[in-house]
Amino acid sequence: MPSSNEAARFPASSASPAPDDPSSAAAPASGAALVVADQVGRRFGRDEVLRGASLTLAGGELVALVGRSGSGKSTLLSVLGGLDREYSGRVQVFGQDLSMLSDAQLSQLRNERIGFVFQSFHLLDHLSALENVLLPNAFSAQPLPYAAACERAREALSRVDLADRATARPPELSGGQKQRVALARALFFRPQLLLCDEPTGNLDVDTGGKIIELFHTLNQREGLTLLLVTHEPRVAAVARRVLRIEAGQIVAESAAERGGESP
Ligand SMILES: Nc1ncnc2c1ncn2[C@@H]1O[C@H](COP(=O)(O)OP(=O)(O)O)[C@@H](O)[C@H]1O
Ligand SMILES: [Mg+2]
Repeated sequence: MPSSNEAARFPASSASPAPDDPSSAAAPASGAALVVADQVGRRFGRDEVLRGASLTLAGGELVALVGRSGSGKSTLLSVLGGLDREYSGRVQVFGQDLSMLSDAQLSQLRNERIGFVFQSFHLLDHLSALENVLLPNAFSAQPLPYAAACERAREALSRVDLADRATARPPELSGGQKQRVALARALFFRPQLLLCDEPTGNLDVDTGGKIIELFHTLNQREGLTLLLVTHEPRVAAVARRVLRIEAGQIVAESAAERGGESP
C-alpha cells in the first residue's frame, strides 16, 4: 500500500491545488484520507441538524452510513459533496478545504470529481439512457467533444452492465436499470468518490441487493471510494465500516459482520 499520508491532515494553509489545476486530478494514494469532516454543524433556523459530526473516509473504502429518518444523513452528504456551504466546522475533500473554494471551483469539483446517486434516480424521462449519462458533460465548464463524450457515456453504461439499453428511455426501464443509468451518469467523469443517498430505497430487496453488489464491484475492481447511506441488509457483507448517525452526530462505528470477523 502506498505510504503517502499527506492528505490525511488538514493543510496548514490554503495552499491545496484548485480543482481546475490538472495536477489535482491525480488519484490520491489508496488509504490516504479522501474525505475529512471535523465537527460539522448545520442548522436550519433554530433546528440544529448536524452537531459536531466528524468522520474520515480513506481512499478505496466502502463505508455505510446508517441512522434513523431525520438524523441528518442527507444533510451530511450534502455538506460533504459540496452541495451545501452553510455549515460550521471543517470539511476537506481530496485534500481541499471546501470553504476555500470559489463557487465555480466547488461546482467543478461536484460535477467532475464526485458522483452522486439518489433514491429517486433523477433521470429525465424524455432522454435516452445514453443522453441521461451525457448530462454531466452538458454542465461542465470544459465539456468533452460530443463523439468522445458519447464514447465515455457508453463506457459508463458498460461499467453498470447496461450497454445494451443505451437507447431506452427511463419509462421503458425497470427500477434497478434506472438506478444503474443514474450510477453510470455519476461515473461519467470517472470520479474518485461516490456519495449515495439511499440508492436502493425505491427498489425491492433483490434488486437493491444487486445494486449494492455493483457498488462493491466498483469499489473492489476500480478502487472507487463510496459512502453509502443505506439500510440494505446486503451492505453489511460489503462495507468494512458502518457509521451511525444520531441527532446529528456520528456516535458509533462498528466493523461490519463479515464472514466470521469480529463484530
Ligand atoms: N432545507 C431544509 N430546511 C429545513 N429543514 C431541513 C432541511 N433539510 C433538512 N432539514 C431537517 O433536518 C433534519 C434532518 O434531515 P435529513 O438530513 O434529511 O435526515 P435523514 O436524511 O437522516 O432522514 C430533519 O428534521 C429535516 O426536516
Ligand atoms: Mg435522507
